[in-house]
Amino acid sequence: MPKLIFNGEEELELEEGASLKEVCEDAGVPFACEEGVCGTCVIEVEEGMENLTSFTQEEIDFLGEQETERLACQCKIKQGCVKINF
Ligand code: FES
Repeated sequence: MPKLIFNGEEELELEEGASLKEVCEDAGVPFACEEGVCGTCVIEVEEGMENLTSFTQEEIDFLGEQETERLACQCKIKQGCVKINF
């Protein structure tokens, strides 16, 4: 099962294809629009970017082309291990 590690401490197993939104919300990441527009839910991906779904158009518009940040309301976990910080 895919695994998400928060701030190097908390570890959670998720279903394949699970959205990061609910688990991030439970862990304390703030959300507002939930549509990829406001940027409130930005998280740093320390490891495992390749294990997340592709950037949505909203993420490209807000974050631009880069390899360390995602919007938690927009991405899903596919496989493996993903380490995030917020
Ligand atoms: S909550 Fe607004 S971009 Fe994710």
